[in-house]
Amino acid sequence: MIRILFVCLGNICRSPTAQGVFEGKLRQHGLVDKSFAEKIRVDSAGTAAWHTGKAPDKRSQQAASKRGYDLSQLRARQVTELDFQTFDYILAMDKANLAALRSICPPQYISRLSLFLDYAEGPEQEVPDPYYGGEEGFNQVLDLIEAASDGFIKHLSNRA
Ligand code: 4NP
Repeated sequence: MIRILFVCLGNICRSPTAQGVFEGKLRQHGLVDKSFAEKIRVDSAGTAAWHTGKAPDKRSQQAASKRGYDLSQLRARQVTELDFQTFDYILAMDKANLAALRSICPPQYISRLSLFLDYAEGPEQEVPDPYYGGEEGFNQVLDLIEAASDGFIKHLSNRA
């Protein structure tokens, strides 16, 4: 089993979007390679606890829904110490959250941490926080996450 955790700040915009998109793409991939898709488990969390228990931001849900991803069942939670030993890949949406993870990660698990966009082919390194902006920011989040999800599935299928 390969376990993947997507991490942002609030766990209501970017990381639940990453979870929903990645699971959607994994399901599509599973149509051609079922055993690969069955080996992967996905979750998301925030470095902050402000929104614990909440469903994803309505704007994230709406933008994702227009592209065929349903985020409505996801609920926010904060990263825990146990996550570092549970997940093989802990993928941060931006450098600030990667730094926050590094500051609490036991040293033996540091290599599990990286930026999600390391797996995308474009020049961007970070998924910008869309929370205080307009609808366009939520679509940009989806563009970046869809590209990184494709790249990450490629990475995992080469590894499997
Ligand atoms: P996220 O976005 O980290 O992508 O979930 C945010 C959600 C909430 C806040 C900031 C960013 N906030 O300040 O409450």
